[in-house]
Amino acid sequence: MAGGNKQIVLKRQRDGVPAVDDFAVADGAMPQPGPGQLLVRNIYLSLDPFIRKAMRGDHHGYALLNPGDVIYGRNVARVVRSNHPDYAVGDVIVADTGWQQFAAIDGARAGDRIDQTLGPLSTSIGVLGMPGLTAWASVTHLIQPALGSTFVVSAAAGPVGAICGQLAKRAGARAVGIAGSAEKCQLVTRTYGFDACVNYKTNDWEEALKAACPDGIDGYHDNVGGAMLQAVGKQLNHYATVTLCGRPGDYFSSTFTPIQLGAFVGKRAKLKGLVVYDYQQDMPEYLRIAAPLVRDGKLKVKEDHVSGLENAPAHFVRLMKGDNVGKAIVAVGPEKV
Ligand SMILES: NC(=O)c1ccc[n+]([C@@H]2O[C@H](COP(=O)([O-])OP(=O)(O)OC[C@H]3O[C@@H](n4cnc5c(N)ncnc54)[C@H](OP(=O)(O)O)[C@@H]3O)[C@@H](O)[C@H]2O)c1
Repeated sequence: MAGGNKQIVLKRQRDGVPAVDDFAVADGAMPQPGPGQLLVRNIYLSLDPFIRKAMRGDHHGYALLNPGDVIYGRNVARVVRSNHPDYAVGDVIVADTGWQQFAAIDGARAGDRIDQTLGPLSTSIGVLGMPGLTAWASVTHLIQPALGSTFVVSAAAGPVGAICGQLAKRAGARAVGIAGSAEKCQLVTRTYGFDACVNYKTNDWEEALKAACPDGIDGYHDNVGGAMLQAVGKQLNHYATVTLCGRPGDYFSSTFTPIQLGAFVGKRAKLKGLVVYDYQQDMPEYLRIAAPLVRDGKLKVKEDHVSGLENAPAHFVRLMKGDNVGKAIVAVGPEKV
């Protein structure tokens, strides 16, 4: 079969931190769009921690990934051929088109065209996309930080964490980040404007968190789960609210870290699970609020780009080791037609 569609496929399923040789580069066939379908060319690929779960064969609302399957992922993509009346050649959309250069997708499920006036194209998979909506849902709907309250977020240098803290600050809270290096903490305080940031890879980080939150913690957006959720739980104030958003440590194996609920019960805390897809219909409202803030430099997220699809596995491994600094994105192809 003639190729022409570079793809990254799964080579093997296994537990543990992913490695570059869990993936392989393949030369796939150029997809042919059928009736009602679009042929799209991927421009920016979003790397997201949950993909790690799928690589082990865990279901995450998508089909299971088996060896030989193209890794799935969300892209900013340009329509290069259209058999659907609602889309024209040149339109740009956000779609789940995987780790490959080209894909054929159903027009009926292709989603909205990107409003290219809102910001650079890559922001539609970052601050003006799913990570931004996740943060907005947590802060605006679930935690609703009060004026003068203390709001803490883990993985604070990443896209979800960075936006959470900035939105909480805009609501009048004190924003404290937890992140995995001094460099990330610098980004969190100097660029994102959090009031403080604690590097949890230092021995005394729990004491440092206490010092950064002298009045205790009223709201916690948990991007990490496991031992960190447990540790922050001990510093919650009565009636605190916690958003349960991510557990990247648990994406590595089929066993989950158990959580002792005693501290949360003692604090009469509210634990709220978040699934961003529940808020998809709120995207226009979020964009109305966030896009002007991004344009005016009042809502910031650093993007961590790498160029070339063949570099996606190494960039993903960096993300899963916490070595990314900002939203992990692969530039797959040129923006222009
Ligand atoms: N529930 C939902 O609907 C939803 C939607 C979007 C995202 N999420 C989740 O929200 C979290 C943040 O997403 P994001 O896109 O902003 O990711 P991200 O921050 O760019 O990347 C994940 C970060 O998690 C931190 N981390 C802590 N412990 C880790 C561990 N054991 N293994 C790997 N990383 C670890 C690392 O930062 P440090 O160096 O600071 O530790 C790493 O950079 C993720 O868990 C993601 O799956 C959930």
